[in-house]
Amino acid sequence: MPFDAHPRSSLIVALDFDSLSSAVKFAKQVADLVGLFKIGNQLFTAAGPTAIKEISALGPGVFLDLKFHDIPNTVAGAVLSAAAMTGVQLVNVHALGGTTMLKAAAQAISAGVPLGADRPRLLAVTILTSMDQKTMRETGISGTPKTCVLKLAKLAKAAGVDGVVASVQEAKAIRKACGREFLIVTPGVRPREDGKGAAGKKDDQSRTATPTEAIRAGADYLVVGRPILAAEDPRAAAQAIVDEIAAPK
Ligand code: C5P
Repeated sequence: MPFDAHPRSSLIVALDFDSLSSAVKFAKQVADLVGLFKIGNQLFTAAGPTAIKEISALGPGVFLDLKFHDIPNTVAGAVLSAAAMTGVQLVNVHALGGTTMLKAAAQAISAGVPLGADRPRLLAVTILTSMDQKTMRETGISGTPKTCVLKLAKLAKAAGVDGVVASVQEAKAIRKACGREFLIVTPGVRPREDGKGAAGKKDDQSRTATPTEAIRAGADYLVVGRPILAAEDPRAAAQAIVDEIAAPK
């Protein structure tokens, strides 16, 4: 499955489940509404590569969100293995791993792909959307989330990475600094609870925004988990976000 630069939807649904059977059951309900399904640490640790096989068989490609962060050689090996799995369209690493690690990952993303075939795209996580300036400072990262995210996005681009995972709050500045082709994937998306009021439940996310704000800021893909997973009617929740994405801005 080659990378699809124009998916039917910019919505990525995070399949944060502890078993493959519940993930598949859920994914079937919304498969026709999503651009990609995201398989993260929880589901991949529980079910392994079989999860990618079964989820991608439902139609949409897979964003394998394992956020590799290790020494360059180990990350390159992990990215190579991820890129070789059928159905995987997006893979990510932590930008905080530094330039050598990012370059090794960028080389690995195309290394195992047959000549002429399109390859999955590599993203770098900048600063987790659950972090704010206080939690950054606790870990020794100085500056505001915005300046730090922008710095990491430029570092990733210079290393040959295809795009970043960042919050909506930084998306506009990243688009300006890194250009049109650079992919921007934004988690921390929370639809407005009443359709017009303040942004809804934040869960453990700090830097949140609505789907409209995400698209306006220049995001290519929106990652949404709990607002759809925990909704009384997940299909209606997904449809509402898809409609909001498609509405004229
Ligand atoms: O439930 P919620 O919408 O907060 O889910 C967001 C998803 O995006 C989670 O699966 C989380 O692991 C992922 N993610 C994130 N922040 C990042 C990268 C990925 O929240 N920087």
